Amino acid sequence: ITRGALKYTGKAKQVYTTDDPDILWVHYLDQATALNGKVKETISGKGELNSAISQLLFNYLTGNNIKNHYLHSISKTDELITSLDILPIEVVTRNYASGHFVSKFAATPMQKLTPIVQEFYYKSDALDDPFINDSQILALNYATNDELTKLRAESTIINRHLIDLFRQANIQLIDFKLEFGRTKNGDILLADELSPDNMRLVDIATGNSLDKDVFRKHSGDVTVGYQEVLTRLQQII
Ligand code: C5P
Repeated sequence: ITRGALKYTGKAKQVYTTDDPDILWVHYLDQATALNGKVKETISGKGELNSAISQLLFNYLTGNNIKNHYLHSISKTDELITSLDILPIEVVTRNYASGHFVSKFAATPMQKLTPIVQEFYYKSDALDDPFINDSQILALNYATNDELTKLRAESTIINRHLIDLFRQANIQLIDFKLEFGRTKNGDILLADELSPDNMRLVDIATGNSLDKDVFRKHSGDVTVGYQEVLTRLQQII
C-alpha cells in the first residue's frame, strides 16, 4: 500500500489517503494541544507512545468483538485504518467526576458517578465542541435515533472492557472520549485514537495522572505517564 495526499491534520495526527479508497493512513505527531488547539507544543516521543497505546487498545477491543476502524501498524508512528464517514459527535463517558464535569456542575472531584455519565458534544473547533443533546442531534441530522442508541450501547461496553483492562494495570479509568463512523453499509465502527490524550487515567498506587491532564495543568512531562501506561499494558496484554 502507498501513502497518498494529506487529507486532514488533527491536533496530534495527520491522515493521508492511500491507493486503496477504503483505507486511510494515520501518522501520529509529536504534538500536544490544550484548550481546543489554542495551546500547542512539540513533545518528542509522544507520537510513538500514542500510536503504540492506541494500537494495543484497539487490538484488545477487537479481541473483545468491538468493531473498529483499526487495521494494522505500518511503523512506530503510522497505521492503516478503514475509511469511514465520521459522525460529528464526540461521546464522553465518565466513571468519576473530573475536568469539565466538576467545573460545570460543581461535582466533588473524583466522586463516583452512578449510573455512569454519557455526554454528546458536537465536533467543531470553531464552536469549541459544544454540548449537544439527542433532539438537537436528530433535528440537525448528525445521527439517527438507531445510531444514538448504538453509540450509547457501544460506549458502555467499551467502558467495561477498558475499566477491566486498566484495573489489571493498577490504573483507574476516570473518563474518556470516543468517536464513531459509518461504513458504506451503514455499520457503526469505533474510530479515532485510544490514548491518554483522550482519556483520564490515574495510577491507583500514587494517585498521579498518567494522561494529558499533566500537559493541561503544566504539572510535568506527559510522556512519563504515557510510557508508564504503555509499559503496564504491555505486561498484561
Ligand atoms: O474536558 P472534559 O472533562 O469534558 O473531558 C472528558 C474526557 O474527554 C477527558 O478524558 C478528555 O481527555 C476527553 N476529551 C477529548 N477531546 C475533547 C474533549 C474531551 O478527548 N474534545
